[in-house]
Amino acid sequence: MMRIALFHLALDLLSPVASSILRPRDTAFTHRDESTAVYATGDTYENFQPGYLGGTWELFKRGEYVDLSGTGYMRVRWEVEYWQGVGPLYEPTFDQVAGTLLFVAGGGGFQWGDAYDGACSHGTGCVNRTGASEYGYSYFPDGSDPWINMCYYLDGSVTITNHESGGDYNVGVEPIAYADILVDINTTPADKNTKYGYSYDPSEASCPCSET
Ligand SMILES: *[C@@H]1O[C@H](CO)[C@@H](O)[C@H](O)[C@H]1NC(C)=O
Repeated sequence: MMRIALFHLALDLLSPVASSILRPRDTAFTHRDESTAVYATGDTYENFQPGYLGGTWELFKRGEYVDLSGTGYMRVRWEVEYWQGVGPLYEPTFDQVAGTLLFVAGGGGFQWGDAYDGACSHGTGCVNRTGASEYGYSYFPDGSDPWINMCYYLDGSVTITNHESGGDYNVGVEPIAYADILVDINTTPADKNTKYGYSYDPSEASCPCSET
């Protein structure tokens, strides 16, 4: 199955010839129409339960998917379960896109590959959030580096499918309001291991641009 790198997705939809990776910009972005929430129309997802990764539609295993429709924003929250299995992280795909789908913001305080100096969620000696010395490290084979919270704008429909088969991971998908994305990406970093989020909405594709 063809896989689409998340960072390339929004730009590819805008222009079939564009190939450069979207650059992070600042912590504000265009407020698009949110006339409906994003809602599910079909699935093999698992429903949220207390203790689970945040998300209304939980895609925990290879092949689990959710069909989504609507005009609004959604959040895909990641969990890299390196203690369950390490290897290449085959990212979820965004397939059968009708209408507009844009990657607009990354938040939650970190990207998976960010240098990390703190208590590991499992094991010890973790240099980033994708592994630890006892387990080894998972990695993104296409070189992407998702934020823990990946936020998208949908005006139409899309199917999101989990392709876990190397390194273990989960994603939790849920509708989110524009205002809540702004709160997320503007949250003051709690410590040296966290950072402000970024906007990636293509309508701000001219600057201010950050090279980081
Ligand atoms: C996390 O660190 C490991 C070990 O140095 C490295 O192999 C891996 O590529 C890093 N992950 C990311 C996403 O940068």
